[in-house]
Amino acid sequence: MQKTWFRELSVYQIWPRSFCDGNGDGIGDLKGVLGKLDYIKSLGVDAIWFSPLYASPQKDYGYDISDYRAINPEYGTMEDFKAVLAGAHARGLKVVMDLVINHTSDQHEWFKKSAAGDPKYKDYYIWRPGKGKDGKRPPNNWQATFPGPAWQWNEERGEYYLHLFAVEQPDLNHDNPAVREEVKSIMRFWLDMGVDGFREDVITYISKREGLPNGFPVPVMCGQEHYSPGPNIHKYLLEYRQVLKDYDAFQLGEAPMMTPKNALKYIKEGEDQQLDMMFQFQHMSADCFVISYLPTGFSLRKLKKVFRRWQKKMYGVAWNTNYMENHDQPRVISRYGSEKMRTESGKAIATIYTFLSGTHFVYQGQEIGMLNYPFKDWSDIVDVASFCAKDLMEKTHLFSAKRIFRNCAYASRDNARTPVQWNAEENAGFTTGTPWFHVNPNYKEINVAAEESDPNSLLNYYRKIIALRKQYKEAAIYGKYKEYAKCNGKVYIYEKIGDDGTRLFVAANMSGKTVSAAPVKRVVPKGAKRLAGTYDGSLAGRMRPYEAHIFLVEK
Ligand code: GLC
Ligand code: CA
Repeated sequence: MQKTWFRELSVYQIWPRSFCDGNGDGIGDLKGVLGKLDYIKSLGVDAIWFSPLYASPQKDYGYDISDYRAINPEYGTMEDFKAVLAGAHARGLKVVMDLVINHTSDQHEWFKKSAAGDPKYKDYYIWRPGKGKDGKRPPNNWQATFPGPAWQWNEERGEYYLHLFAVEQPDLNHDNPAVREEVKSIMRFWLDMGVDGFREDVITYISKREGLPNGFPVPVMCGQEHYSPGPNIHKYLLEYRQVLKDYDAFQLGEAPMMTPKNALKYIKEGEDQQLDMMFQFQHMSADCFVISYLPTGFSLRKLKKVFRRWQKKMYGVAWNTNYMENHDQPRVISRYGSEKMRTESGKAIATIYTFLSGTHFVYQGQEIGMLNYPFKDWSDIVDVASFCAKDLMEKTHLFSAKRIFRNCAYASRDNARTPVQWNAEENAGFTTGTPWFHVNPNYKEINVAAEESDPNSLLNYYRKIIALRKQYKEAAIYGKYKEYAKCNGKVYIYEKIGDDGTRLFVAANMSGKTVSAAPVKRVVPKGAKRLAGTYDGSLAGRMRPYEAHIFLVEK
């Protein structure tokens, strides 16, 4: 496997609205980011990925773009962006932009002109006449990812348009060559400015089956077999790939429902490789049944199985990404760890995924162990996806209202979107104004300042292991994965073997109970050097709750 800069990155994800407010209007912005570049650098990461910063009505918080070449005025100006880009580059930090091209906002000029029937734009989106005698039935039975029908009637045009996400996010028609030219031109616009890569939103959805046939009638995401992926996906991606030939940049595709076998069709090294890596989701279902709105409790066995598969199947042929949180996922300690043992479980979680082969991601606030928000009722929630899920669950009549709220509160993307907690001052130091969204009431205890001053904090642990991942990169980033005690439901043990002979052993008790250390002792060689871990001190006969270790065996 070739050693390329983007494979070695630790990337810090910023969801701009809640990162840091620089002008006191209660909304995170680029000025706020500029003031925190040194902090980001201090984590030891090498890149920043920005969730969308573009002009947008914010119906899906930036994933509904109304102008791909403009910065959302709430976040600042293009000059502010250029200052952040220059500031990041000056510190050796790469900058990755979110490229959202499956859909636009319904407020994008293209959509307005398309709805009006402007000849140039009329086929930019996926329009179909209604069915039935009155022509008012949707063209097919597809359901959106945000639960609900995937078609919306447009009065002006007298037709339905397809939206695989919210009603305000019409899908672009990539079968139209003019649309593909627009995409390439947007990519060049940002690459010419100096950005280093793209995270490509739901990129596997951009091609839809000709004729848009009905989907197999399932309750969630009916129709997905016709667009996830569609027939022309590889062709279109190869076309977009050509743009990168002129730049030293990389492409990371977000790929819901992706399996290792299918992933290789996109990311296998070689002539027809279309993406450098992908975000898959399988390891994010270790606490739920199929979708996050149906929680089951955390299963380590499920998590291990997914990690194992991806580590093995990609080894030597393709590249993984490793993440535990992002703007769509609730806080991982609240899911896979323990809020009561926040620091300990946070360290154990950090340990097990940081030494897997792949590009490494940390989401804002993850490094200080931010937790889910204690939502009390629906008036606390703003995420469009949560409301769609609520509607769908209500329609099934399977759940009580209380249960629906509880499930949605647990799974809501809003959990990841509360303001970053910087210090114990008012509004957690996020803003001097009124924050646009609730600050988690735990901010007095959980914040960057408090963690800075504690050598044993989760924050300082992240710094340490991010550095270790680089220091022993032959094993940590590129090494071969070997797992032990696979069936153990509490302890996770794996080894990473580098080409240079370096071996790393990662061992973690992922449960809140004390367990025997025997399975670990059987595996880790006697002379192994302990590099870091949840608690001070080496491995004893028993492992405390969430006790994790990283051991080194040098050649
Ligand atoms: C991706 C984004 C998510 C967004 C959706 C539609 O899954 O990560 O935040 O809502 O695509 O753009
Ligand atoms: Ca602001």
